[in-house]
Amino acid sequence: GNEKVFNFTINKGSYAPDGFERNVYLINGQFPGPTIECDKGDTIVINVINELDEDTTIHSHGISQRGNPWYDGVPGQSQCGIPSNGTFTYKFQVDQSGTYWYHSHLKTQYIDGLSGPLIIHDPDDPYIKDYDEEIIVTLQDWYHNDSKPLLAYYLSPESHGKEPSPDNGLINGKNSYNCSFAPPGSSNCVSNATLSQFNFVQGKRYRIRIINNSAFSAFVFSIDGHLMNIIEVEGMITQNHTVHQLPINVGQRYSVIVTADNPGQFWMRAEMEIDCYTYKSPGLNPLIKAIVTYNNSTDPPSSTAWNDSVANCVDFNASDLKPYNTQNVPDANLNFTITIEFYKDKDNITLGTLNNSTYVIDVKYPTINKVYDNVTQFAADQNVFLIEKNNTVVDIILLNYLTLEHPFHLHGHVFWVLGSGGSGTKPDYNKLNTKDPIQRDTATVPALGWTVLRFVSNNPGVWGFHCHIEWHVEVGLVAQFVTQPDLVRQLTPPNDWKALCSQKHNKL
Ligand code: C2O
Repeated sequence: GNEKVFNFTINKGSYAPDGFERNVYLINGQFPGPTIECDKGDTIVINVINELDEDTTIHSHGISQRGNPWYDGVPGQSQCGIPSNGTFTYKFQVDQSGTYWYHSHLKTQYIDGLSGPLIIHDPDDPYIKDYDEEIIVTLQDWYHNDSKPLLAYYLSPESHGKEPSPDNGLINGKNSYNCSFAPPGSSNCVSNATLSQFNFVQGKRYRIRIINNSAFSAFVFSIDGHLMNIIEVEGMITQNHTVHQLPINVGQRYSVIVTADNPGQFWMRAEMEIDCYTYKSPGLNPLIKAIVTYNNSTDPPSSTAWNDSVANCVDFNASDLKPYNTQNVPDANLNFTITIEFYKDKDNITLGTLNNSTYVIDVKYPTINKVYDNVTQFAADQNVFLIEKNNTVVDIILLNYLTLEHPFHLHGHVFWVLGSGGSGTKPDYNKLNTKDPIQRDTATVPALGWTVLRFVSNNPGVWGFHCHIEWHVEVGLVAQFVTQPDLVRQLTPPNDWKALCSQKHNKL
């Protein structure tokens, strides 16, 4: 493979993605961040120049980081932060292909814009002759306040544990907003900002890579007048499956092929699944739109939406998707049951627990450094699951005792989704799909329901496992798998990585 070098200068600046101006994170002056793109087998090099007055990191979501777990970009787990005015280089070879994204894993930075797409092409993709061009579509919820005060409020008794509601949503970083809802005098706001636009050429077939890089919101994605053929879920090639509408939760990705066979002017829609949440901001229009046009026109379409009944607040039915290649799902030799709950602490602040334990980040002494120092006992609030033996087949049984669904993401691995059920159901080991399940890295556990995930632990390192609702990361819905510590100690980390922990870090 080749080496693909990306220089990322990270700072903050004023920007108005939807007409409402605010301070956002910028990478090379861009919002959303630039696309990282390469071929399978290439080595990705990301040179980060941190011009912020705070630490940062870059996590490549869905990338295995096999052999270099210290480049996974998670403060407190796989690295110390890149300090203010510091630089750091991530360098890793990719042995996988598909649709991914990168984001800061430090505090709530990615909510304010520190993220972008990461695409790995495979010249041997079985569908490569079935499309002519590629389009990337990012879907994200958007707040008009900085995430820092929002987080402070969320972590106060006044919030009663209600997650901050987005003010808007963006498709490829754009949308419009009705400025009459903007707080008076708070900011510059221009109504009717320009929407994202996709120019279709009749007869062409597009591979659309859809990424949900939200803080909080699940979406139902569709294009009026056009069918979507799902061919990829998070790096796994699937058998072609045609849909009108596609639910996609935080952190998830899909590729669909769309044929431009219906000339005209159409809405692309990303409907925020606000039914899953208990309340919303007054100005929030949950229907996020972009324009699909065959004649480069910016006129608002008058097309009508697909109107199937899509199940709310759960993943696209995993049993409707079949892997392209035959799966050999091994039997599990270890299982962990993880219960998800909220509680109020002595100060009346709502916190989350996994197996009754709220994760507390140890910023100064990341878990992987502890592994290198031969620490074998981890503090209870580190929520560590230890897997000593290489190639252990692990089941995670997630039990959700909450009335909100949670998109759980595992670092460094993909898992098979063996089964999932909603309120009132229990996991039944005889009914799990071990024959032809799909594999992915982010799956939703339904409200009051359960999900069973299976993965092969064959990637030595320290790997986060957490709800990808960023607010829930901050209240402790985080665990970590420490896998094959003996083998981790045989991997030699780079000196500049080791040096990060001894550099001066501003108060986080
Ligand atoms: Cu996309 Cu732990 O993250």
